[in-house]
Amino acid sequence: MTSSPPRPEDPNPSAATAAPGGPPPHVAHPQRVRSFVTRAGRTTTGQAKALAELGPRFVLPFQQTKLDLAAAFGREAPVVLEIGFGMGDATAHIASLRPDENFLCCEVHEPGVGALLKRIGEMGLTNIRILQHDAVEVVDHMLEASTLASIHIFFPDPWHKKRHHKRRLIQPPLVAKLAQRLIPGGYLHCATDWQPYAEQMLEVLTAEPLLENTAAGYAERPAYRPETKFERRGLKLGHGVWDLVFRRRAAVP
Ligand SMILES: C[S@@+](CC[C@H](N)C(=O)[O-])C[C@H]1O[C@@H](n2cnc3c(N)ncnc32)[C@H](O)[C@@H]1O
Repeated sequence: MTSSPPRPEDPNPSAATAAPGGPPPHVAHPQRVRSFVTRAGRTTTGQAKALAELGPRFVLPFQQTKLDLAAAFGREAPVVLEIGFGMGDATAHIASLRPDENFLCCEVHEPGVGALLKRIGEMGLTNIRILQHDAVEVVDHMLEASTLASIHIFFPDPWHKKRHHKRRLIQPPLVAKLAQRLIPGGYLHCATDWQPYAEQMLEVLTAEPLLENTAAGYAERPAYRPETKFERRGLKLGHGVWDLVFRRRAAVP
């Protein structure tokens, strides 16, 4: 969704009061490379209303401690983690198709969060919870090993330019953590319309010892994944679409 050049990182505010022996106040601490840049985007009146009215029920605060998933959803059910749901079209569609599963959905862009909340209200969905936070930190801090039934990452930002490739989500360190958070037999489903990123995904997922491919290479689009608006635009531009579905093994072979 975003391919504009990233803005310089904000200086770390804590650097202004550096501890003795630490860096001088004008030197920012190195920050982790993120897979997104904060975009200005207009929140519509309907999205703002949904944020105000439904946010308190469906948006969970980020926390530095493990999340009690059953308590967060008010029931025990298999949990699907979605990273970067955009405007939430696919999320709402899949959550309505699969009412017996709980969907924990991360997105940093506020209008997208408002859009999904609006859909939740319109469709009467109860099996979605949203984290408006960097999913990498959510995985690191809030999710325990062997707790997720599935993970969906649909059309993550491709970061076309070589110097931005380090921002791509699908890289070995995150994939190793995701594999470890899945239950044995759980699946990780990625999709992209950018061939070089599809090739990187295939290479990285294949190299992760805890995962095994469910297909010989790329997978057929599973029936639950609808075509998104973003994807249709790509198809019109003549892009292909690649799905990858890998399962977590019981143990490293
Ligand atoms: C290209 S869009 C695709 C959106 C949607 N999945 C679709 O198929 O239309 C990628 C989305 O991922 C979000 N994103 C990127 N990195 C993220 C992160 N670390 N945590 C949460 N959301 C992230 C972006 O804000 C953006 O909305």
